[in-house]
Amino acid sequence: MKAKILFLLHSNAGQTRRAVDELAKGICASSSAEISYIELMDAKEYPFPWGFYEFFSIFPECAIEKPDPLTINPQPILSDYDLIVIAYPIWFLSPSLPLQAFFKSHLADGLKGKPIVSLITCRNMWVEAGQRVTQWISEKGGALVDTIVLADRSPPWTTFITTPVWMLTGNKKLPMLPEAGIQEEDYLRLREWGQLIGDTVSSGANNWHKPSLDQVETIALQEKYILPEKVLKNLLFKPAAFGIYHLSRFLPIVRKPFVYLFLVFLVFSILILIPIVLVMKIFLRIFFKDIGESLRKKALYPYHQ
Ligand SMILES: Cc1cc2nc3c(=O)[nH]c(=O)nc-3n(C[C@H](O)[C@H](O)[C@H](O)COP(=O)(O)O)c2cc1C
Repeated sequence: MKAKILFLLHSNAGQTRRAVDELAKGICASSSAEISYIELMDAKEYPFPWGFYEFFSIFPECAIEKPDPLTINPQPILSDYDLIVIAYPIWFLSPSLPLQAFFKSHLADGLKGKPIVSLITCRNMWVEAGQRVTQWISEKGGALVDTIVLADRSPPWTTFITTPVWMLTGNKKLPMLPEAGIQEEDYLRLREWGQLIGDTVSSGANNWHKPSLDQVETIALQEKYILPEKVLKNLLFKPAAFGIYHLSRFLPIVRKPFVYLFLVFLVFSILILIPIVLVMKIFLRIFFKDIGESLRKKALYPYHQ
């Protein structure tokens, strides 16, 4: 009998969709698995390119995980599938809102007992969001067998400019800077991962033992962001999002100015936070080597614990 694989995906600018297509090509090259796709959607419409305010206005809901309800119809029966691939982009250090909506819906209960591969696309900061998804999968009783991450490999100072410009204008290439987005060779490498998945599926579908995570080169590249991301998310994003979300529920008129205020605050705090985080990193490395190491392991291998 043919194995059945379901891709649950959300993609706004197209990178996750492309990644899914490449992974699926690899799976098809090494197995006769039947593949289905479901686009995750919630009640909001997300534009591309984004308007300036639209882009930042989703920040509070993203950061404190308040998505609109999932709106896919008809809903698939997840228990029919041998493997589920959950593919999503990162938004404000969190999984994108439609992905959050999926995990808040009853549909996610169908993940129980299923092998799951998660596929993330991002600029460069995915660890906090990846850990949330790992946690949600485990709460639903699913078995995460692999996490594949595709990030923009260009220098962070360039992607800090090129990614927002691309999101806000649709233009990926600015003069003198590398093109925004995931590189072609990284997309193509996904076919290899797809073939590995296809091999496993063909060899009996239940042969999911050790995640191949430690072989994923792109993940090792992101290690240096683990601590800055943790600090940014917990000390800045969450408190600010909580404040804006709750204040604007009582007084909707304050939402827009507060979102802009956050933006200004964000730029300044990045300038302040970066040196603080660097000092913390040195301190951790020298005096609390074990804590630093356990933080690193937890981020990179959350399901090996
Ligand atoms: C609203 C928004 C917020 C984003 N926030 C982050 C972020 O916090 N970290 C990151 O690495 N990338 C971030 N990105 C970049 C996207 O994660 C990245 O471009 C992703 O590959 C887009 O996937 P898609 O093309 O399938 O929509 C953000 C993009 C958008 C639109």
